[in-house]
Amino acid sequence: MGRSLLFLASILALAIFSLAGFDFPGGRIQSDIKAKEAFKNLNFFAEGRGIHLVPGLIEVSENFNLTKSGLALRDVILHDRWGFNIENHWPVGLFDEEFKGMRIGALGCVACHSGRAAGQLILGLGNKNIDVFAIGRDASYIENLYIELHRQPRNDPDFLAVRDSALQFAKLLSNRKIANTTQGMVPVSFIRAWFYKNANLSLPEGLTRGAVKVPPLWGYGEKRKVGQFSDGYGNGNLPGWAIAVELSGGQRPETVRSYLPKIEEAENLFSDFLPPKYPFEIDSTKAAKGKVVFEKTCVRCHGQYQIDGEGLPIYEAPKFIPLSVVNTDDDRLAANTPFFNHLVETSPLGDIIRHTDLGRGYFAPRLVGIWSRFPYLHNGSVPNIFNLLKPPTQRSKIFSVQDAGEEFRFDKAKLGLTIENLTHREAKRRNAPFTPFNAEEEELTTRTKYNTQEVGHSNLGHPFGTTLSQEEKYQLIEYLKTL
Ligand code: HEC
Ligand code: HEC
Repeated sequence: MGRSLLFLASILALAIFSLAGFDFPGGRIQSDIKAKEAFKNLNFFAEGRGIHLVPGLIEVSENFNLTKSGLALRDVILHDRWGFNIENHWPVGLFDEEFKGMRIGALGCVACHSGRAAGQLILGLGNKNIDVFAIGRDASYIENLYIELHRQPRNDPDFLAVRDSALQFAKLLSNRKIANTTQGMVPVSFIRAWFYKNANLSLPEGLTRGAVKVPPLWGYGEKRKVGQFSDGYGNGNLPGWAIAVELSGGQRPETVRSYLPKIEEAENLFSDFLPPKYPFEIDSTKAAKGKVVFEKTCVRCHGQYQIDGEGLPIYEAPKFIPLSVVNTDDDRLAANTPFFNHLVETSPLGDIIRHTDLGRGYFAPRLVGIWSRFPYLHNGSVPNIFNLLKPPTQRSKIFSVQDAGEEFRFDKAKLGLTIENLTHREAKRRNAPFTPFNAEEEELTTRTKYNTQEVGHSNLGHPFGTTLSQEEKYQLIEYLKTL
């Protein structure tokens, strides 16, 4: 009797727990591992549709050894030049999909939404080096090599359709009016461009690039309730905007509607992703002092940080801050014009792509896993936290993002990227050009240099904490490592 009562009680507790959305001890960690594995394998290529790179890519990368110095194509083009993270000799987020006898290079979310920091690969962190311009720029060269490989192109309609939509996407990514000028920056105007094209309009002169670093996904389950992206424009409507990306990839509105459920599924996968723990030692006495500094100087915008019984973060929604207060670069905001809103509303997907206007400003992001999210600010313009805590005009004006995720580029004291004007590897690359790429080599090897004087790259604004003493700054940094 006693035992069955106990049994009943535990069933009841189970029901209550799951109704309330609680997990059992270890549950969040287990489901995090599963969700990350599933997200890692996710791409939207099916039946010849979905974002894909030129169909020849996979075979070319296996069959050509392009460099004079004998470096593998995969490492030099896919990693150094296009910014893919390489794991087990394969680019993370590039899928070798079979379609009607072709091997399609499909692009998954994790190509951008996984990144390296201090030498480790972290799912849900933004890729610090992805370079969509370089991908777009090289696509037709790769396709020519493919043709060389086969002597002549296959001329069946399936091949041509897949190739044409890939080349169309590539052309959009490499359109100089809106293309990113630095690795790790993704211009959101390549999505806006579809709405202009759909309305038979050419891109307006001076359309801003709105290039941003890829945001981290931790805490997204709470964040999505207040709005997507750094400016809240997405109105809790990721599936709609993800669909807009597929449109930019050459899809038709009728077909992308069918992707909605799959995107919603993906959204639920990463809603509760857990952040990476700081991988080195933390001085807890110093961190405790830093917490006091944080509460005095930062908490009013960035909030408090609670943990659950397992020591895992309890996520909260970020707070929206007007541009007039934070004063960071406004290029990301400038293209959200009433006319653009009108184009969205009157597009064939106006019913499912929603937007909102929180006013001009940015969310003060929740700082969970902040040690790994450098370079800092929405446009990645500040290499490390110590640099962010300097008066804006004294911050680094130029720095290298080359190998940004490797351990030798990680500055434990200043928290973030070491400040180097790395040119030695770039020079080496210049001496080892790929045979077919000579003409653009110069341009494409300087893309790891972050120049804060460029449009959209300003490192000004966010003057908070800049008057703290040196000692307080290092205490604050120690505390940030614990988040
Ligand atoms: C080419 C790189 C790239 C790919 C591929 C990509 N994203 Fe993103 N993602 C971005 C960038 C850049 C932003 C920030 C956009 C902005 O600020 O407007 C973003 C924003 C987001 C956000 C909003 C995060 C927030 O803090 O509000 C979510 C969620 C997201 N992406 C999910 C996805 C999913 C799901 C996929 C796959 C279907 C995907 N992304 C594929 C680059 C990418
Ligand atoms: C008045 C509000 C406000 C205060 C106070 C404030 N911040 Fe911020 N913070 C913001 C906003 C808004 C952003 C986003 C700005 C952007 O990306 O352009 C931001 C961005 C950041 C980022 C970059 C996050 C990322 O993912 O790149 C860091 C790090 C940061 N703040 C740390 C701090 C620290 C440390 C303090 C205290 C010394 C502080 N902030 C005080 C509003 C504030």
